[in-house]
Amino acid sequence: MSETPVTTTNTGSPVAADGYSQTVGADGSIVLTDHYLVEKLAHFNRERVPERVVHAKGGGAFGTFEATEDMSAYTRAALFQKGTTTEMLARFSTVAGEQGSPDTWRDPRGFALKFYTSEGNYDLVGNNTPVFFIRDGIKFPDFIHSQKRLPGINTRDNDMQWDFWTNSPESAHQVTWVLGDRGLPASWRTMDGFGSHTYQWINAEGERFWVKYHFKTDQGIENLTNEQGEKLAGQDADYHQRDLYEAIERGDFPSWTLYVQIMPYEDAKTYRFNPFDVTKVWPHADYPLVKVGTMQLNRNAENYFAQIEQAAFAPSNFVPGIAASPDRMLQARIFSYADAHRYRVGTNHAQLPVNAPKVDVHSYSKDGQSRFSFPSSDRPVYAPNSFGGPQGDPQVAGDAAGFPSDGELVRSAQVLHSEDSDFVQAGTLYREVMDDDAKARFLDTITGHVGAVKNDDIRARAIQYWKNVDADLGAALEERLAAGAAGAPVVNGTDTEAAEAVA
Ligand code: HEM
Repeated sequence: MSETPVTTTNTGSPVAADGYSQTVGADGSIVLTDHYLVEKLAHFNRERVPERVVHAKGGGAFGTFEATEDMSAYTRAALFQKGTTTEMLARFSTVAGEQGSPDTWRDPRGFALKFYTSEGNYDLVGNNTPVFFIRDGIKFPDFIHSQKRLPGINTRDNDMQWDFWTNSPESAHQVTWVLGDRGLPASWRTMDGFGSHTYQWINAEGERFWVKYHFKTDQGIENLTNEQGEKLAGQDADYHQRDLYEAIERGDFPSWTLYVQIMPYEDAKTYRFNPFDVTKVWPHADYPLVKVGTMQLNRNAENYFAQIEQAAFAPSNFVPGIAASPDRMLQARIFSYADAHRYRVGTNHAQLPVNAPKVDVHSYSKDGQSRFSFPSSDRPVYAPNSFGGPQGDPQVAGDAAGFPSDGELVRSAQVLHSEDSDFVQAGTLYREVMDDDAKARFLDTITGHVGAVKNDDIRARAIQYWKNVDADLGAALEERLAAGAAGAPVVNGTDTEAAEAVA
């Protein structure tokens, strides 16, 4: 056994005692010259960094992604070339709860991935649902405010939630997902993950494709009932975090198979609804799933704070062969995350081991708080220069990663495609994907949820919202609320069919 080390200060000099401050005489006051006491208290005061403004509660693990299929016809990204194995990190989370909140509150689950590829880091920051509540990033702060806490009493509030949702009919599809069985996964291992947005893939010839990512759990989908979720929330707030950690510790490594839907570039213009609208799925009948590879999580973090809390996932972290699309939500996110990281973790967050790429960095960024890696001082700190500094590669810029767009500057919600309806896919999810048991559970859940709304106008709008999704469902909800019903206990069950398969 190794010798017990002597405690040191943070700068490495040995200290005399862990448990006694310096005092003036045995019963006297402490002294400010006890720099070790000062360092200990001052460092403690700075232990917390701001929690993520959303997705604050979560956990994650490291693993690998192996590309098992040949994707070279669609993308030149190195990580998706057959036979390539890439180290990665995943973080799962709830959205609205704070850092200590229970894992089993009903909510979408974050599904954030960081691939340490041979061409730099690629981050795919998705959810366990294929769609989202809004389609324009300008509404995101308002949406989140409505899901978090009232300013005075500081409690969560059904009136705020339903006021926002009923005033934002584009939320109907995602609300149907979240209040359905998949809004309460049994564990992070037993849920699917989605990139949700439409992204662009570019192959070596410069040909462009639109893609959507689907990570299908190899463990099978399993969900909790409302009752189970509520009970676990009281018994073990960290239920999902513990489940993932313990599975990995016992060698039961969870895995997901990655599929993509691929839309030829030209189809987007004439597709029956806007393919860049994140409130919509692409029916599999139109664009079937194409297998790409497998992701396995097989290594727990050694230190939660250093490797999970400080992990910074950003939709702006692209690699050659993968790019953005005209999805305006995605574009807002491309700004938002790296900005959040500069505030939450610091200007040089990308230098922390968990965020640093496994390739050399040759950027012209310089200095800033807590910088510790830097290029050699004979390298110029500006470009253009005449001294052999790094230079952009036109091959990268010329990879056709753009998309044509022109027109006047407008702020509009113009409907350009024939089936851009807000309610159609929510109705299909309810009618065609949920079986009778799932429908009954769904009605129980929305009855409980809408039943907690106190404002009569908002309650009436919520009933109309569900009538727009499905007339019979809305009528049943109206009837139960009129009879004074609250959410009844529900029975357990798992999803039958992948909901995004139809529309
Ligand atoms: C976290 C903003 C939409 C998934 C975050 C964070 C911000 C943010 C600021 C905290 C980042 C951090 O501190 O590390 C936004 C904005 C959105 C948006 C402005 C709309 C324009 C979405 C959508 C998805 C999503 C559509 C999924 C498809 C996530 C996930 C995390 C997150 C998974 C947690 C990442 C982690 O584990 O560290 N979001 N978000 N967000 N967001 Fe969003």
